Order: sequence, then C-alpha cells, then structure tokens
Amino acid sequence: MKIDVFFTASGVQPAEVQGRSVVVVDVLRATTTIAVALDHGAREVVPAASTEEALRIAQNLERADVVLAGERRSTRIPGFALGNSPLEFTADAVHGKTIVLTTTNGTPALIAAQGAREVIALAAVNFGVVAQHCRAALEQAGDLVILCAGSERRFALEDAFAAGRLTKVVLPEGGLRRVDVNDGALASLELARHYGERWLRAFRASGHGQELADLGFREDVRYCAQENTHPVLPIYADRRITAYRAPQEG
Ligand code: MLT
Repeated sequence: MKIDVFFTASGVQPAEVQGRSVVVVDVLRATTTIAVALDHGAREVVPAASTEEALRIAQNLERADVVLAGERRSTRIPGFALGNSPLEFTADAVHGKTIVLTTTNGTPALIAAQGAREVIALAAVNFGVVAQHCRAALEQAGDLVILCAGSERRFALEDAFAAGRLTKVVLPEGGLRRVDVNDGALASLELARHYGERWLRAFRASGHGQELADLGFREDVRYCAQENTHPVLPIYADRRITAYRAPQEG
C-alpha cells in the first residue's frame, strides 16, 4: 500500500498520477466551492485553466444554463457571474446549472491530475464522504495520491493540514507499518497531529486564510472549516466534475 502527498501541483509529473486515485485539495477555497455547488444541485462544474479558456468553454457549450465563475487574487473576475466564495453558490444561483470555474491554484491542480484512474475533490465540508471513498480505494487498489493545490506554486499550510487529516483517517489498522508513504505524507501527518480536528485554527494560521480575512472573506474561512456540512463526492472525469451517486440497489 502506498500514499503520496504532493504539496503543489507544479512539480508533479503525469507519470506520478497516471492510473492512480488522486484527491485534489484546495480547501481555501476552490474544492470547498465545488463541493458546495454540487451539493446545492449544480449539474456539473467544468474546471478551466484560464479566464480565456473559461470563456471559450462557456461559448462552446452554447447553453443558457451555463454560469461563469472564478477569481484572480481571490476576487471575482470582471464580467463573471460568480466569484470563488462558497457563500455565493446558493441553490438559487447554481441549481441545474453548468458552472465553468477558473481559479488561481485549484482548477490548475485538478487539470494536472487528469490521466489519473479517478480524481476526487476534497474539502472539510465533504471530508467524511471522501475519506470513506479513499479508504475503500486504498484497500482495493492499494494506492492513493493527495495533491495539494498550494498557493502560487508554493506550499500552503491549509492544504497540507487537510492532506494530513485525510492520510491519518485512511491509514489501515497497523498504521505506517502497513503503508509506504512519501515524506510529504509524513510531514502532513505531523500537521494533523498538531492541529487535530481544528480546521479553523489551521486555516486562520495560514497565509491564505489571513489574506482572505484581510480581503473581507473572514466568513468564507469559517464556512470552509466546517466539517461534513456538504457530504458530496465530487468526481472529475471527462473534463467535468459531478457528484457521484451510488447506484441504487434492487
Ligand atoms: C485558488 O484556486 O487559488 C483559490 O481557491 C483562491 C481563492 O481563495 O479564491
């Protein structure tokens, strides 16, 4: 069994994700926003690498129910209907809609994970559901990658902490004796040990958490830190993220 944690997407080679289960983490705020949008009934979220690509995708979709969303420097892109604040992604704003989303670090990390066996978006708000899925994936395929979006190609405390929380809860009985982990996973486990289940404390300590508070998004930071409030499993496949629904029995 193997768990790798990467702290940014920039150095990750396609071969490192190819054929593996990859969990992408941008807790402040892109993966939180994606979970909230899907939980509030968005049909799908289409990640775009740039503003231009988002505009092109929206144009090609040629549908009235497409909503452009995204940020640069954490602030809504001019002309877009929504920014990247999860508080904006209400059921009224997103139900039944296709959201084309571009963010500084989160959507590029998702795009970098293409080619993986499966790509899942993790946040605090959907932590339990993702953890349950990852435990099963690890048992079955013996392999998990946690890919932190980071911040402008650098380490971000909030994502590394989330990676550590996930690593800790998916470890099988026997812990590190049964699993081969990279140094990123070991370091993230130390962060998880330090902060325990205190998401908000880790977020407030982080550089991006402080930046968001300074920009007037203090409430977003608090919202992003609530565990299991939006229990959806966002799966990225065929260039779109949808909420996975388990097949009904019978
Ligand atoms: C990103 O993708 O860099 C973030 O989600 C930034 C933000 O907080 O909007």
